[in-house]
Amino acid sequence: MNTQLLAPTQEALQAAARLLEAGQLVAFPTETVYGLGANALDEAAVAAIFSAKGRPADNPLIIHVRDEGDAEALCHLSTEARRLMEFFCPGPLTLLLPKKPQVPSLVNAGLPSVAIRIPAHPVAQALLQATGLPIAAPSANASGRPSPTTAAHVWQDLGGIIPLILDGGPCQVGLESTVLDMTSNPPTVVRPGGITQGMLQKVLPEVVVADSVLRPLASGERPVSPGMMYRHYAPKGELWLVQGEPCRVRERCLALYRQGERAGKVVRILAFQEHIQAYQKEDGGARVLSIGSLEKPETIAQNLFAVLRTLDAQGVQLSLCEVLPPVGMGLAIMNRLSRAASFRVVDANQEV
Ligand code: TXA
Ligand code: MG
Repeated sequence: MNTQLLAPTQEALQAAARLLEAGQLVAFPTETVYGLGANALDEAAVAAIFSAKGRPADNPLIIHVRDEGDAEALCHLSTEARRLMEFFCPGPLTLLLPKKPQVPSLVNAGLPSVAIRIPAHPVAQALLQATGLPIAAPSANASGRPSPTTAAHVWQDLGGIIPLILDGGPCQVGLESTVLDMTSNPPTVVRPGGITQGMLQKVLPEVVVADSVLRPLASGERPVSPGMMYRHYAPKGELWLVQGEPCRVRERCLALYRQGERAGKVVRILAFQEHIQAYQKEDGGARVLSIGSLEKPETIAQNLFAVLRTLDAQGVQLSLCEVLPPVGMGLAIMNRLSRAASFRVVDANQEV
């Protein structure tokens, strides 16, 4: 298939809307990551999303809508859900809500709840306006790969497989939306994102975070969100997280780097912008990539998936990555990094 990559002009948006209405797939930018959209009410179109991504059918999709009024056709909205929407939507928040029968069960993997999101990105909103349809859209990556934060990333994974990618430039948030389960009591964050627990608690003080966001599932444990079952965001090479006192982390990263190099591997250190110079000073030969500023975690969120893709492009076999405290935006970053690393963590405070 010939894949068109178009700037989001009026004409391109109309073309995208007609494709969606004809049951085709369109990739489009949102403020979090790029989405791979289809008409949520068209089962065959939704099935095409799963096959284009190679996504397991038991991993449900998020439905994107223009506003609360459109959401109401698809799910039951509690007073609490409405208050959250008033406060945070449009924006990077997805709510799990009791589903109405109109939603084909393929979209939400037959669960009683459906994931609803009102995106803030002007191109996503313009596309929703142009079709008037609810758009089912997972992240527009091949299943298991890091989510796409530029149109070029989408092209790498889905070029030749889908008819159209709308190019809206790099995504502002860079990590997928916060997913909040409103069908559990208390409401529970099952995927942390840019809307943090603290922000949600200003509207609903009872909001908690599922403890499984930072650990692997125990064998036989049922995931709070099916997406958590799968190896995700992972680069092709190995990724190890290195935690501990900053100077010990630096020493250990450099020691592991040299060890990897001696074994003939292509190795990289992933460090915060503030630490790059120190690595370079101590070992001019070490190849270090910045994952963003420790002082500004939002820059790490913006960079993270692009950096993980760079590792693959450079044929990196082993990466050693600094970590940050799992609070606020740091929790979303550590949730993605832990999965990308398959939970492999080195404690630099402990002697080897
Ligand atoms: O920011 C985002 O949310 C992006 C953009 C495109 O909107 N979308 C996105 O979709 O990240 P996806 O499919 O990559 O991730 C959706 C996550 C998955 O982990 C899925 O298991 C979970 O939400 N999910 C969806 N519906 C659910 C449901 N009914 N119950 C539990 N988890 C659900
Ligand atoms: Mg995804």
